[in-house]
Amino acid sequence: MPHPVVVLVSGTGSNLQALIDAAADPLYGVQVVAVGADRDGILGLERAERHCIPTFVCRVADHPDRSAWDAALATEIAAHEPDLVVSAGFMKILGERVLAAHTVVNTHPALLPAFPGAHAVADALAYGVRVTGCTAHLVDSGVDTGPILAQVAVPVEDGDTEESLHERIKSVERPMLVDVVGRLARHGHTLTDRKVTIP
Ligand code: GAR
Repeated sequence: MPHPVVVLVSGTGSNLQALIDAAADPLYGVQVVAVGADRDGILGLERAERHCIPTFVCRVADHPDRSAWDAALATEIAAHEPDLVVSAGFMKILGERVLAAHTVVNTHPALLPAFPGAHAVADALAYGVRVTGCTAHLVDSGVDTGPILAQVAVPVEDGDTEESLHERIKSVERPMLVDVVGRLARHGHTLTDRKVTIP
């Protein structure tokens, strides 16, 4: 039986699409059982619907506070009984209820711990680094601080814009995420201090 995975998105969902495509192969061992979002009308939700994957939207603005939103999101996710939750371009900090109930993998468009937060690509360009990249990590209660699972470096080219650099990063980020999610789902992991081992 494939391992059930819930994917959370806020935007175009190209990383989600890579996971859906990979999951078409039974040997990958993953089924995307639901896609959740913090907003309506995004391509990420459309992609899920195209593949007949159930979706849910949990908006912060529909709840009295962050804690109530966290509880509602935890309930939505838990209904799908996932082995793993993937934050793939989900632009909200997850709360304690979601994190207590699930192993969550996040993908981030920089080489953490450099450039955490919501503007990683613009921050790397503004700083003038010649190499940046992407990081897959386990989510903890901090902002992009969890134990690192995988990283891939990407050169910054002269004349790069935020868009061109982000596209170059995403072209390596998608296969990185597909690889890590598949191995984690199939084999599980152990954590010693900050070192993650996937057997
Ligand atoms: C990805 O590059 C992901 O790392 C980034 O959003 C993009 C989503 O692309 N996430 C963050 O910046 C989180 N801080 P996608 O919607 O095409 O998968």
